[in-house]
Amino acid sequence: MEWAIQSLRDGGIGAFPTETVYGLAGDARREAVVEKIFAAKNRPYTDPLIVHVGSMEAARLVADFSPLARALANHFWPGPLTLILPKSSVIPGLVTAGKNTVAVRWPLHPVAQSILKNGELVLAAPSANAFGRVSPTRPKHVLKDLEGRIDFVLDGGPTGWGLESTVLDVSENRKWRLYRPGPVSAEELQAWVQAHAPGTAIEAFGIATSPEHSQPSPGLLPRHYSPDTPLKLVSDEEVPEVIESLEKGTQGFLLLTGVGPNAEFSGANLQSLSSDGTLESAARNLYALLHQLDRGGISLIYVQRFPETGLGVALNNRLERAARR
Ligand code: TXA
Ligand code: MG
Repeated sequence: MEWAIQSLRDGGIGAFPTETVYGLAGDARREAVVEKIFAAKNRPYTDPLIVHVGSMEAARLVADFSPLARALANHFWPGPLTLILPKSSVIPGLVTAGKNTVAVRWPLHPVAQSILKNGELVLAAPSANAFGRVSPTRPKHVLKDLEGRIDFVLDGGPTGWGLESTVLDVSENRKWRLYRPGPVSAEELQAWVQAHAPGTAIEAFGIATSPEHSQPSPGLLPRHYSPDTPLKLVSDEEVPEVIESLEKGTQGFLLLTGVGPNAEFSGANLQSLSSDGTLESAARNLYALLHQLDRGGISLIYVQRFPETGLGVALNNRLERAARR
């Protein structure tokens, strides 16, 4: 970690574990470093980055907090919630794609915290994958996309949540916007708002229908999180037909949610995403299985749709986008 801190101070870029997915980090205050992050990922400059901080003081250095936004941050940070706030002048426009708002997050993972805190750094860190691809939940996923393009990968083992943070725009008073569902669920945010900010509405954004027009959050682009292998979402009702056709020799592989009553299904070409029946364990496994199936010469990945509650909303959101071609 000391070596990584030195590398980051010297203007290097490298991957570190967070509690959601691995991030590709570099000094958010230096334009030349931020340019290297975009280049390594092949990410278009129109898609802004999240700035990671290791304290509330660092957060206030990069963004302006309304009293309500500060209370919200105090409640959910450190943790998997990214807040969109008015940006301060220490952050170059390249980080925010020219917007006057900046995405900020204080991660919970001990390795990320130690780098940020001990290095006294503020780090721009998108997920450490090539643009549009499946996010990395293990070091080997990072290397698959970025080996030779970055200075280091810090190995913190598999990440805890396995899905990217929730993105909430709180830059306007009374009208907050949920751009990306994630580990902090809409229900939890709504409960907090009801208790602490009655009169503030949370508007949920769906997946953008057209990539052409300028999006409020460019990460809403329809096609994202995609494996090379085509992916198809199937409903509970469709699962038996898919299994039957796989048994008859149709090429493909089926991932079952594992959270409903599907323990009775078994077969060579199917697997459950959740070993213990929880959405949390399904989220932890999803990207690792997609990375693995992508290398396995499979022609089509079927995935059973999750129930639309809690983390299931975030899981379906990623899968719907992975399914677009
Ligand atoms: O869990 C995570 O958030 C991970 C870890 C590494 O922290 N990071 C991550 O970053 O997923 P990235 O770059 O893959 O996703 C950032 C999302 C994108 O959808 C981007 O469009 C949106 O945040 N975003 C960033 N700045 C924004 C802004 N100023 N306004 C609206 N959306 C913004
Ligand atoms: Mg990403």
